[in-house]
Parts: sequence; structure tokens; C-alpha cells
Amino acid sequence: MKIGICSDHAGLEYRTKIISYLLSKGYEVANFGTDSAESCDYCDFAHPMAAAIEAGECQLGIAICGTGNGMAMTLNHHKGIRAGLAWNHAVAALVKQHNNANVLVMPARFVSYRMAVGMVKEWLENDFEGGRHQRRIDKIPVE
Ligand code: RB5
Repeated sequence: MKIGICSDHAGLEYRTKIISYLLSKGYEVANFGTDSAESCDYCDFAHPMAAAIEAGECQLGIAICGTGNGMAMTLNHHKGIRAGLAWNHAVAALVKQHNNANVLVMPARFVSYRMAVGMVKEWLENDFEGGRHQRRIDKIPVE
């Protein structure tokens, strides 16, 4: 499985460590930047990662910014993306189980790295439950 990952400057440190974590677990990783600590715009990294997921080049994605909201708002403009913001282990598990998020979004300025990597593990290791949750997901798109 190939996992895309992107961040702005606020998420750079966590992203770098999470890339190492994913590689150590045997995942393929596509890094969409930023690779600089300079202030930048999260959209410039979110859109290319979303496009790669929509094109099937990556199966899942992880996005990190200061609050997570800029990344989530940008990613969810893409029809093939369900980006879910998580801030603890339970929410990270539920965003897969109930929302089938294909992108996990995390707020680097409001969670520890230990929490962030724990959330990645929860999200990757849980499965979508389908059923009533699929019906709800089917009602999300606006034509
Ligand atoms: C950057 O300062 C910050 O605005 C950004 O990381 C994010 O929190 C936006 O939603």
C-alpha cells in the first residue's frame, strides 16, 4: 500500500518522523512536502496529494498542519477524498470505522508527536464498518 503524506511548515517535524515510522512498518510512502521550515500555504501540498489519491497512485493519505482545519477544508473539495480530522486515538479509529476517511488529518500544534503516531496506527489498523455508515457517506456529496 502506498500512503501519500503532506504538511505545511507547522507539520514538517511530525511529517518527517511519521514518514520514518511508515517506512519502518513496510508501507510505501509518497512525500508531497513541504520540505522547508519556511512559512507556506497548506493548499499547495494538499491539492497534489489529493490528486494522486484520486488517480489511484496512492491508496491513502496523511495531512498535517497547525490546526488540521486548513488541510481538511482543502482536501474535502476533492470528490475522491474523505479527509477526517482527528485529535486522539478514539477519534482516529472512528474516522476509519464510521467515516471511512481516506485521508487522516492531524493538528500538529495541538497534539504531541506520540499522540500523532498513535493516531496513525489506530487509523491504519481499523476497518470501515459499512452498513449504516456507508448510507451516510453516500449522502455526503453535493451534485
Ligand atoms: C499556519 O500558521 C497555520 O495557519 C496552518 O498550519 C493551519 O493551522 C491552517 O489551518
